[in-house]
Amino acid sequence: MSVTTATPPKVTLHDVQAKKTRGEPISMLTAYDYPTAMLIDQAGIDMILVGDSLGMVVHGLESTLPVTMDMMVMHCAAVRRGTKRAFLLGDMPFMSYQLTLEEAKRNAARLLVEGGVDAVKLEGGAPIAGTIRAVVEVGIAVQGHIGLTPQSVSAMGGFKVQGKTVDTARRLLDHALAVEDAGAFSIVLEGIPAKLGTLISRKLHIPTIGIGAGGGCDGQVLVTPDILGLYDRFTPKFVKPYAKLSESMRAAFEAYRQDVETGAFPAQEHEYSISDEVWSAIESELGGGD
Ligand code: KIV
Repeated sequence: MSVTTATPPKVTLHDVQAKKTRGEPISMLTAYDYPTAMLIDQAGIDMILVGDSLGMVVHGLESTLPVTMDMMVMHCAAVRRGTKRAFLLGDMPFMSYQLTLEEAKRNAARLLVEGGVDAVKLEGGAPIAGTIRAVVEVGIAVQGHIGLTPQSVSAMGGFKVQGKTVDTARRLLDHALAVEDAGAFSIVLEGIPAKLGTLISRKLHIPTIGIGAGGGCDGQVLVTPDILGLYDRFTPKFVKPYAKLSESMRAAFEAYRQDVETGAFPAQEHEYSISDEVWSAIESELGGGD
């Protein structure tokens, strides 16, 4: 008798590493809620990130800086419930890991225990290598993130492509090597020239996941509302839109409003019926509705 299982095997960090070894591109998308996570998971995406980009694309904030641990835990738990196969990562928000190693370990553990993620992502290079090492040493897998790191937007003087000079390119490579040496299982490269993305990807043993870092990275990540055309406050050059959901959603909301206003909704097929006999008994007990 053959036994079939409904749940496909979960993607592990070994699978992600094996993809790099075999030269197979790794796919990653962000998710912040249960239904979107379910659809991304069903589409066979390798990794799902609950990014702190949720501050902007879900909560309407100006930056990722005000995002808190409690927000991350709540969104991670919702995404966990929709994710059966993909490897799930949660972002550590601004100031949840920068002050002390104890805090970094405690907050990383919260994302695993309360949020149900498989790994955490930390922004920063060599200066936070010690933090990455400490988190990895307590048994929590870490993804690094260097380049145009949104949590450091103030120090970078705005959202600017990084690594465009010999010095800054060398520094970025050093940061990437420091993150790898600290034990990260992979690293996001954001907002750097494509040629530098390729060079760093070749120098590292761990997989690089690019966002605005060119096709030479080992994998790609994008912010899901960007590819769905749901967040049009700002669309970076590196985004490829795959849908225009804001247009179809707005049209659906308008059609619903019109149906309610004209009485076209609800129609008979949307209503619950009751037998005439029971209804006359109710009417005689309660009186008519007019
Ligand atoms: O917060 C986020 O969504 C991210 C991705 C852009 C990599 O960090």
